[in-house]
Amino acid sequence: MAGLPYIVGNWKMNGTRAMLNEARAIDRAAARFPKVQVAVAPPATLIYRTRDAADIIGVGGQDCHAQESGAFTGDISAVMLKDAGADFTIVGHSERRTIHGETDADVKAKAEAALAAGLGVILCVGETEAQRDAGQAEAVVGAQLEGSCPQTDGAPEKLSVAYEPVWAIGTGRVPSVEDVAAMHKSIRDKLVAIYGEGGAEVRILYGGSVKADNAAELLSVAEVGGALVGGASLTAESFLSIVGAAA
Ligand code: G3H
Repeated sequence: MAGLPYIVGNWKMNGTRAMLNEARAIDRAAARFPKVQVAVAPPATLIYRTRDAADIIGVGGQDCHAQESGAFTGDISAVMLKDAGADFTIVGHSERRTIHGETDADVKAKAEAALAAGLGVILCVGETEAQRDAGQAEAVVGAQLEGSCPQTDGAPEKLSVAYEPVWAIGTGRVPSVEDVAAMHKSIRDKLVAIYGEGGAEVRILYGGSVKADNAAELLSVAEVGGALVGGASLTAESFLSIVGAAA
């Protein structure tokens, strides 16, 4: 797997302009960690200002619409994210799949729109607790990848995949190191099946209750190329402790 460890903070629906102080602090500190690629995905209202406030870190969206423009009240296109200064966008987060009913086909269309707009893509996949208990975790994630991996220019070069077990998000629970390793290997095999050699270079992030005290262990697992961090990315102090664990 190529590239530096990639540590991405997903602020979800958190943050008003006061959060720009955290972004500035993260950006300043990121200079001390040249061997880590650091990024944040603020709410859309803060993308432009975060880009303006930060020189080093990547800035991304949390979702995008699959169309470039049109009568889609409340939505934001990938072209608009790019125009606001985003470098990448997350797509297919389980909160989008569950709360907004997004299907694999929706996620694939969004990922392809993001690539067409010149954005990198972090594509999220992950099983529910019931699916894991039923022994279906790898099959579920494999099917999500088959259904939602983009197939247009930019894939797989500008693609990262984030494995986020739904039951680990915001719960303080994390899978065992063995389970993370097994799932990341399964994702790697599927990416190679989908993309051929290019699939071997896609970064696979882990997400779900990553904190300062478990980050180093999770990041040391084979095929874990970074972390997608929710709650612990909301202060510069806790996020930077995870960045430090990746250095
Ligand atoms: O996108 C981030 C994930 O949903 C993880 O969130 O770190 O709060 O568990 P969390």
